[in-house]
Amino acid sequence: EQGYYSEQYRPQFHFSPGANWMNDPNGLVYHDGVYHLFYQYYPEDTVWGPMHWGHAVSKDLVHWEHKPIALYPDGHGLIFSGSAVVDKHNTSGFATNGETPLVAIFTYHDMDGEKAGRTDFQTQGIAYSLDNGETWTKYEGNPVIGNEGIKDFRDPKVFWHEASQKWILTLVAGDHAQFYTSPNLKDWALLGEFGQGQGAHGGVWECPDLFPLTVEGSDETKWVLIISINPGAPNGGSGTQYFVGNFDGKTFTTEQTEPKWLDYGTDNYAGVTYNNIPNGDRIFIGWMSNWDYARDTPTEKWRSSMTVPRKLALKKIGSDYFLTNFPIDGIDGLASSGLSKAWEVGPKETTSRTIEGLNQSMVQLRTASKDFSATFQNALGETLVLTMDSENNQFLVDRRKSGKVDFQKGFGNKIHWAPTEMLEGETFDMKILLDRSSVEIFINGGLLVMTEQIFPNEPFNTLTVENRDSKSSLTIDSVKKMESVW
Ligand code: FRU
Repeated sequence: EQGYYSEQYRPQFHFSPGANWMNDPNGLVYHDGVYHLFYQYYPEDTVWGPMHWGHAVSKDLVHWEHKPIALYPDGHGLIFSGSAVVDKHNTSGFATNGETPLVAIFTYHDMDGEKAGRTDFQTQGIAYSLDNGETWTKYEGNPVIGNEGIKDFRDPKVFWHEASQKWILTLVAGDHAQFYTSPNLKDWALLGEFGQGQGAHGGVWECPDLFPLTVEGSDETKWVLIISINPGAPNGGSGTQYFVGNFDGKTFTTEQTEPKWLDYGTDNYAGVTYNNIPNGDRIFIGWMSNWDYARDTPTEKWRSSMTVPRKLALKKIGSDYFLTNFPIDGIDGLASSGLSKAWEVGPKETTSRTIEGLNQSMVQLRTASKDFSATFQNALGETLVLTMDSENNQFLVDRRKSGKVDFQKGFGNKIHWAPTEMLEGETFDMKILLDRSSVEIFINGGLLVMTEQIFPNEPFNTLTVENRDSKSSLTIDSVKKMESVW
């Protein structure tokens, strides 16, 4: 029990830094019983500043322990986003005594170069740890990838590629992704590029991730490329698009023409997946904020938190592929006592329940109703309204009256929208996670997801369900209290 985790908006089952500013998750890697979470961190203030890699560890991805800062800025620049790998065969030669090196691959951002108006101020560097992440040493040969004048050149994600027995690195170069190969994590050669003219381009590309997944219920393997983009997301500001296609060891190709979005909410950005999880699970964590207002949210001691860890899967619907994301089982494990009995809302019925503890809960419902709203409300009358309007092919999140909204003009100025065409079948199921200052909504196993921050002035304690469908009823299966992990 850490005292500072009692503040009004402090997440109780999401990761947040003890104090000060955090953005992207970095270096997500599992090794020897430990899940590492590094993150973009400015230890001196609650707004973005010279970047370090903060560090936390977990045995289950649910309970976290804060660690000292892992990487500090140095003469090459600030430490921007990147990844980490387990160098099992010591290809880097960093181990001298039989240890297994962890190697972090990150972007150096040279502020002086940027200020001087140069365009080559972002390069890629590496650092290693021989004690499972406790202490880190920068490589003396940094940078390992120089810059030939590409202004936005960053966020390297590395994995071991079995087929070529080499490392593959994906990074973003302005409006596209580049792929590099290396035998030893130090010497890199460019292989190919992807993205000019493909997908969404409302803003600069950031934080790529490339990995294979087996299509559910088949033997088919496809490659997924995740690309964060800011601005240009469907509901404004920062968002995460993905492509499903193939990777031939050199470059990524896809027949996908339209962008697809991993999350339609406004607050899931720069998310990437873990390397080296033993059972092959692909687990994603995103930063639960948006560059439009990340610096302005009404918390005082710290700024922002991460999404819950989510397991990714690939689904084929018709001839189309969709990436689903859904909370790992460990999150369900936090849902302890029921706060309310199950209840049914018949056709054309509206029912309301007062539920103390609703602001830190998991709500699960299922229904064949095509038209309903679930409203979370507090004693001040502030509301968060979730609406399924499948006749018009849309799901809506309305946080316009959810409490503090006017700290920035774009936070509460409109209803947020998602298309529902991809939700096949006659029924919906919905899992809703509320944690004081966030809501994560997973529909049909994570086929449609929305993640949003909220800042109610008092805790939500009433749930009202209005079922507008004239034929089908709706069942609230459970409302459970989520345990605090801090
Ligand atoms: C994404 C991002 C990255 C960059 C980092 C800097 O949110 O802009 O592209 O490496 O944040 O903190």
